Amino acid sequence: MNFLTLTSPLDMHLHLRQEAMLQAVAPLSAETFAGAVIMPNLVPPVDSLERVHSYREEILQACGRDDFDPYMALFFRNYTREELEAAREHIIGIKLYPAGITTNSEGGVSQIEEAEPTMRLMEELGIPLHVHGETNGFVMDREAEFLWVYRHLAKTFPKLKIIMEHITTAAAVELLDEYENLHATVTVQHLLITLDDVAGGMLNPHLFCKPIAKRPEDRTALANAALRAHPKLSFGSDSAPHPVHKKECCGCAAGVFTAPIALQILAGFFDQNNALDKLQAFVSDNACRIYGVTPPKKTVKLENKPFSIPAKYGDVVPMWAGQEIPWSVAEIS
Ligand code: NCD
Ligand code: ZN
Repeated sequence: MNFLTLTSPLDMHLHLRQEAMLQAVAPLSAETFAGAVIMPNLVPPVDSLERVHSYREEILQACGRDDFDPYMALFFRNYTREELEAAREHIIGIKLYPAGITTNSEGGVSQIEEAEPTMRLMEELGIPLHVHGETNGFVMDREAEFLWVYRHLAKTFPKLKIIMEHITTAAAVELLDEYENLHATVTVQHLLITLDDVAGGMLNPHLFCKPIAKRPEDRTALANAALRAHPKLSFGSDSAPHPVHKKECCGCAAGVFTAPIALQILAGFFDQNNALDKLQAFVSDNACRIYGVTPPKKTVKLENKPFSIPAKYGDVVPMWAGQEIPWSVAEIS
């Protein structure tokens, strides 16, 4: 197949930042995606309905088009029933970060039990819970050590829709089938790289993110789930732009920037694995069903024609900068 047409691709985990960075990156997502779940880890975090409204306005202005729907997420804290009832129609879910686990998560949750009253309300009101599932243990084990929390929450709140964000392990893939109310997103980098690509040879800061890329067998399990468009799995890029001076330095920030190249890379990966017919479900249909969204209509025609990934987008170095990949975007309408 030389062409593949995708309808309304969705990115169910995206960092757009603020101010100049927002202005630079929002149009890049809005070009090829019809909607995205917008992460609330700003400074200060997006933790009120007012902030949801104002941040959404900023995003729409930065995109400057009406065929991209930002699905807003609140930053988890303990909310009152009144707050949740008011916010419900305006958000896709609430994102929980364990305190201090990743970029701008200092205000996150330190004791999961303390978060349960709000989760009980979310379950009752039908508000999904998005989770950054890592402990602060040994870096390669952080997701595995967190899985009991997913099990505990899935059992305690059987009607709460829980999204395991950016899963990176075979064990997390298995967990998806254990509880009806567990769903997940996976990034493009975790389908393609392992820890070796980050730190096995020369250190590559542009592939450093949280959770860190894991072992070959984890990558295989994630790839198998994505390539068959596992019905509880959606694409979420976790595209997380940082200016080059925050990446190429001592104390490199976590985050891989993939938004403008994610679909092209995915097309190459699905093609290589004879699974192009599953890409529509993985990048849109599954998400529409799981999250109950109806994105704006956007058609992205991809072509089996080489594309050189730019060295930089503004001040941000993307994944695989300067490399040639086999698929490109031919037309967007
Ligand atoms: C994200 C960021 O930079 O905001 N970084 C990352 O490595 N993924 C935060 C996050 O999603 O963990
Ligand atoms: Zn993220």
